[in-house]
Amino acid sequence: MSIFKVAIVGVSGYTGLELVKLILNHPNMEISHLSTSSGDTTIAKLHPALQDIIEFSVDKVDIDAIAKSCDLVFLALPHKTSMSVAKELIAKGIKVVDLSADYRLELETYEKAYCEHTDKENLAHSAYGLIEYFREDIKNAKVTASPGCYPTATLLGLLPFIPYLDEKSPIFVDAKSGVSGAGKKLTETNSFVTINENIFAYNPLKHRHAPEIQEKIAKVHNKEFHVNFVPHLIPITRGELVSVYATLKTNIDPQEVLKSAYENEKFIRIRQTPVNVKAVSGTHFCDIFAAVHGNSLFISSAIDNLLRGASSQALAAANIMLGLEESLGLPTVAYVP
Ligand SMILES: NC(=O)c1ccc[n+]([C@@H]2O[C@H](COP(=O)([O-])OP(=O)(O)OC[C@H]3O[C@@H](n4cnc5c(N)ncnc54)[C@H](OP(=O)(O)O)[C@@H]3O)[C@@H](O)[C@H]2O)c1
Repeated sequence: MSIFKVAIVGVSGYTGLELVKLILNHPNMEISHLSTSSGDTTIAKLHPALQDIIEFSVDKVDIDAIAKSCDLVFLALPHKTSMSVAKELIAKGIKVVDLSADYRLELETYEKAYCEHTDKENLAHSAYGLIEYFREDIKNAKVTASPGCYPTATLLGLLPFIPYLDEKSPIFVDAKSGVSGAGKKLTETNSFVTINENIFAYNPLKHRHAPEIQEKIAKVHNKEFHVNFVPHLIPITRGELVSVYATLKTNIDPQEVLKSAYENEKFIRIRQTPVNVKAVSGTHFCDIFAAVHGNSLFISSAIDNLLRGASSQALAAANIMLGLEESLGLPTVAYVP
């Protein structure tokens, strides 16, 4: 049995912790290097839940040491930081799965939404890690960009319906995320006092995930749609619920549309009643429900933002890039109740 060595950069964060947990249970991967910006610690000191489970030192980021140690690197870093690390690792022949936004978008879209891109060459050849739609691209990619958490839940629900939508009508996406979606850095917005017993929208109609959703709709279906995207923060730790409202141009049976898109997909569950985040929390599943009334379409999808929206989706991409069976190590049983 082949065992692949993998490294995680940015292991002190939320998605870094999820990656460690996933790799501990992976039959064909072992951790060969862990790093953060300051290093000089251990994984159990960073994440006490791992004490007596894994002993591993965490070093300062050192490109040569990482490249010597592994076959593939997960970058669980903020955008902009990721591209500088990825560029050097790719130059040394290491495969990269990046959880940030740095390799998700076309150059023009990226620079409009984020900042100047400093690794245009690898961006031009990166794969988008929405597994169900881009498996073939991922197989031979040097770098796979794990999709944003909101685009994951939105696109998995919406893409099967795009051929049936009225192109003149905008799509409305109302998304709600647990607080871990913002990462571990404390701000006034995600402090306990602000978020507890509260709910509010942020960056309405201006969030950077809207261009990602629009660009991938165009890539898969060659159709331009305007997406009105409004995310909300809700007082739960993890989990994301997305409600999509769109206008149909033709009669459809929504269950049949979902069935024909996903009947062979292990990690998409088509639900007969509206979905909820508890049933997917701790898993790689995306649960989807859809309903039609007249020409109105409602789609409801739920994921765990830290897993299907980040680390388990990154792991699925890594499996494909390493020639392993795609579903190895992906979690299936939810944390309920
Ligand atoms: N949270 C989610 O639900 C989610 C979903 C999808 C995608 N993502 C994306 O995944 C990435 C990681 O997210 P996260 O939620 O895990 O963030 P996080 O909890 O804030 O962790 C990011 C980690 O990156 C490390 N870091 C920052 N600058 C660094 C540098 N120059 N060198 C090395 N390490 C550095 C930080 O650790 P130190 O300061 O200790 O080094 C921090 O622990 C982000 O790009 C995020 O947008 C997150």
